[in-house]
Amino acid sequence: MSNASEINYFTESGSVESVNVRIDEQADPRLRQVMESLVKHLHDFAKDVELTQAEWGTAIDFLTRTGQMCDSNRQEFILLSDVLGLSMLVDAINNRRPSGATENTVLGPFHVEGAPVREMGDTISLDGKGESCLFEGRVLDLKGNPVSGAKLDVWCDNADGYYDVQQPDIQPQWNNRGVFVTGEDGRYAFRGIRPVSYPIPDDGPVGQMLAALGRHPNRPAHMHFIISADGFETIVTHTFVADDPWLTSDAVFGVKASLLAAVEPGDAGDTMWKSRFDFILNKAGKD
Ligand code: BEZ
Ligand code: FE
Repeated sequence: MSNASEINYFTESGSVESVNVRIDEQADPRLRQVMESLVKHLHDFAKDVELTQAEWGTAIDFLTRTGQMCDSNRQEFILLSDVLGLSMLVDAINNRRPSGATENTVLGPFHVEGAPVREMGDTISLDGKGESCLFEGRVLDLKGNPVSGAKLDVWCDNADGYYDVQQPDIQPQWNNRGVFVTGEDGRYAFRGIRPVSYPIPDDGPVGQMLAALGRHPNRPAHMHFIISADGFETIVTHTFVADDPWLTSDAVFGVKASLLAAVEPGDAGDTMWKSRFDFILNKAGKD
């Protein structure tokens, strides 16, 4: 019989050890590292704020409703991660790049695989709404050489602030989406609309949390890009309209100074706005 004083019964002060000691010797080492740290920080948090049982119940209810809100079109957990800054932090940790290379930002929930490949110069706006805007620039390597065969997968909301997938019965499929492939000169150009700001979906538990915290749900106007090319790291990013009023309080913390792109009036007599931005790719396998 073991001595009762040697048994690791649960205590408030020894709570972390009580849980972590149960992890099997054979458990995957990375899983062990992640779980030991998670338990430590979770317990430290509960001790730090002296979490009440009512608050714990509220948290369980919140997480339950967050899960229940999820389906194939709505990912409330990613939204939660986004508004807590966790998505941007994980992105930053995993996409450190040398200075000069274009920075990543949050992917968001509205990317759709398989957008139509369009000719350079084509429009992505299919619903006839919004102010026309030409997006143009180059895809370059860090030495300034053009990158040929770079694929730009682009998407944005429409002039009413909704993505096509949010309004499948209202907007044409693939509205404000397209894929463009650069030629030898590394140049890209496509027409779309001057981006407009919009609120992230805020009709669920994440929206309720933002409201309770006195935070707004808005994102500054932006165009999404995924840029990929053989031999280079893929960039997941946006360009942000440089004078947008929500730049300094983006609900998901996605803005970086290097991603601001002025949207300027076109040449005299031209009603189309212009947004110029060069993307600089980092070679794969380098830091
Ligand atoms: C977006 O930019 O599409 C987005 C990003 C994070 C949360 C919601 C929307
Ligand atoms: Fe967006």
